[in-house]
Amino acid sequence: MRIVLLGAPGSGKGTQSQRLVQRFGIPQISTGDLLRSAVKRGTPLGIAAKDAMQAGKLVDDSIVLGMIRERLAQPDAGAGYILDGFPRNIAQANALDAMLAEVGQPLTAVVLMEVDNVELTRRIAGRRSCPNCGTVYNIYSMTLGSDLRCTNCAERPALVQRPDDNEETVVHRLRVYDEQTRPLVDYYRGKGLLRTIDAQAEVDAVTTALVSALSQPAEVGAAPARRAAKKSAAKKPAAKKAAARKPAAKKKAAAKKKAAKKPVAKAKSSPAKKKAGGKRRPVGKKAKKAPKKRAVARGRKPVARKVSRRPSKKKKAARHR
Ligand code: AP5
Repeated sequence: MRIVLLGAPGSGKGTQSQRLVQRFGIPQISTGDLLRSAVKRGTPLGIAAKDAMQAGKLVDDSIVLGMIRERLAQPDAGAGYILDGFPRNIAQANALDAMLAEVGQPLTAVVLMEVDNVELTRRIAGRRSCPNCGTVYNIYSMTLGSDLRCTNCAERPALVQRPDDNEETVVHRLRVYDEQTRPLVDYYRGKGLLRTIDAQAEVDAVTTALVSALSQPAEVGAAPARRAAKKSAAKKPAAKKAAARKPAAKKKAAAKKKAAKKPVAKAKSSPAKKKAGGKRRPVGKKAKKAPKKRAVARGRKPVARKVSRRPSKKKKAARHR
């Protein structure tokens, strides 16, 4: 398995990578973790990367690619790996393809983890980690004591917040993701490697969706479910939206459209109106209803008027004369 987890900052790439490590026994390769470690140790690479990371910008491709090449060459990567946070742009993806082609071991799957921006911001704001063992927590979705300490380490060190997890940097990181990383969705879909999952759900449900996606065939051509639905809904005018919902609504919308197109007939003066000197016939309560119409209006069946066939007394007398 050679997998790429693709997703915005805070979409849960790190959290889910950890679970895949346990499940499949292959290593997680996180460029973010490698860079943070280099910064912490103060290596030349870390010094070069620090400013970009704190500003929420991408670190130079040459630094990241050198680091990845070195990491993929280590023996534990021979059985497969989970790439978390790499590649981050088209140039990195092209370089990775070339690197893997050299050893004849191409990627086997790319999973896009979709989460909306409100949830991403909430997750990032609530993220805390242990400076000792690196376990990641979240103050909003986990029950942590008020002192926020690691429950994994015996000495229970206080949890810390990443320096790039502040509000200002998060906005920039999300913009960088949209501009530079999101194009990889089409890139990998085009290569027949992409699977998309809804990563908005709670952690266990996302793991289930992720494992299931890895056993499914890749998407071809179609846009990812959640985004495609939103996009098309935004583009469709109201009548079309209703028509798309169900056939009955479709007919209704079509009729509405037709009625709207039909020019409104100008009121022509009818012969009756002419007779009445151009006056309109009274309408509403004032209008005298014809007997038949009146009966119908009262809910009764109209009765045909009887025509008497008996001659009147006057006519009878005339006949006798
Ligand atoms: P990196 O460390 O890769 O950060 P990121 O991509 O911004 O991703 P995050 O680590 O913020 O989020 P995540 O998706 O891993 O979410 P997590 O599982 O932690 O990169 C940092 C910086 O390094 C970059 O800005 C850049 O400067 C540089 N860099 C890295 N790679 C680079 C590259 N290839 N090229 C150039 N520069 C590079 O979860 C987040 C929080 O949410 C946690 O608290 C977690 O507990 C919680 N959570 C997770 N899942 C759920 C869930 N389902 N429900 C509720 N809470 C959840």
